Amino acid sequence: YRGDGDGGSSSPFYVDSDGLQRQIDELASFSDSPAPSVTRVLYSDKDVQARRYIKGIMNQLGLSIREDAVGNIFGRWEGSEAGLGAVATGSHVDAIPFSGKYDGVVGVLGALEAISMLKRSGFQPKRSLEVIMFTSEEPTRFGISCLGSRLMAGSEELALSLKETVDNQNVSFFYAADSAGYKMHPEELHNVFLKKDDYFAFIELHIEQGPILEKEGIKIGVVTAIAAPASIKVEFEGNGGHAGAVLMPARNDAGLAAAELALAVEKHVLESGSIDTVGTVGILQLHPGAINSIPSKSHVEIDVRDIDEKRRNNVIEKVHQSAIEISKNRGVVLSEFKIINQDPPALSDKSVISAMEFAAKQLNLEYKLMISRAYHDSLFMARISPMGMIFIPCYKGYSHKPEEYASPEDMANGVKVLALTMARLSLQ
Ligand code: GLV
Ligand code: MN
Ligand code: MN
Ligand code: MN
Repeated sequence: YRGDGDGGSSSPFYVDSDGLQRQIDELASFSDSPAPSVTRVLYSDKDVQARRYIKGIMNQLGLSIREDAVGNIFGRWEGSEAGLGAVATGSHVDAIPFSGKYDGVVGVLGALEAISMLKRSGFQPKRSLEVIMFTSEEPTRFGISCLGSRLMAGSEELALSLKETVDNQNVSFFYAADSAGYKMHPEELHNVFLKKDDYFAFIELHIEQGPILEKEGIKIGVVTAIAAPASIKVEFEGNGGHAGAVLMPARNDAGLAAAELALAVEKHVLESGSIDTVGTVGILQLHPGAINSIPSKSHVEIDVRDIDEKRRNNVIEKVHQSAIEISKNRGVVLSEFKIINQDPPALSDKSVISAMEFAAKQLNLEYKLMISRAYHDSLFMARISPMGMIFIPCYKGYSHKPEEYASPEDMANGVKVLALTMARLSLQ
């Protein structure tokens, strides 16, 4: 396909920006927290509504819809050589508590608009084109990120651990899935696994979630690699007791152990020697959670990332040593130190990078090669398919908060680059 590059509505190759924005706003209304924030957690009623909404659009576009056991949703436009590996795109629509309306959503609704514009322009795919809405990119409910894509990439480890996984209300993964309409036998998780040649390429469109593109005034980021994420759960246990009656020397405060560990995470990260190492304690819970009771239990969740896997692993090791030392010094029990995931980074594929670059050039859009510090389903799709990602600017780099924003113009640029990239790869 040859785009004419002007993108004006005089040509059939235009983005319906108003329609896309309307869909983004509608989807944002399926939220468990008040606007402008969005909260949409896996298998909740709002998640089910969002799924129905996405399938509705897929239907309108004439895509054939498939849902796998955990609710990954695939909308396929069959190509003239349907036996060849397909060209896929997609992202997620689950949203962490009190986040914004663009993270993931731009990569699903924008992808559907890319398909729509290719259809309008009369394009005929050779390889099938597919839009995927991944189940639970965010770790909110069950603590595991990229649940859908991790399984698609064949994670036996995850298939096994899901049998014992519960959320913080003690609801099991399978019960939650069932209540969202995905009733399955644990063995069916294996049906989610994909084969290595199912896809010829996978491309994800996403807001940058960082400030670089906006600051430099560049319209498109061509992602070359995704940083390596890890997450850890830690629990300390002490004796607790009365906040007035137990004197300080007699205490073993599990809360203070957690606080000390949080500071140790920061210290080890800062001492890594690289600005690329980041660490966050985003969850810190104390039991029983009463002002006049010494915490007898604490629960800490730690997120550590780096573009250098070894350096990140080194931080994890130091955090573990600190947890052991803190528990000794404070006389508390380190009852859990569990690495939930410790993923390697992923590289984009040269073939996808050059297709994205070609598309940006054809559209006269300045682009920049860059890394993704956030993780994405692409991290796992890269295990089974050549992968690439397209970033667009977002306001001040904000993400995972309600102030997240991407302009209609920037989204339209991303949609066009995605459409041209997919069209090009479809004909290869
Ligand atoms: C995904 O949302 C991430 O935390 O990078
Ligand atoms: Mn996110
Ligand atoms: Mn995302
Ligand atoms: Mn993400």
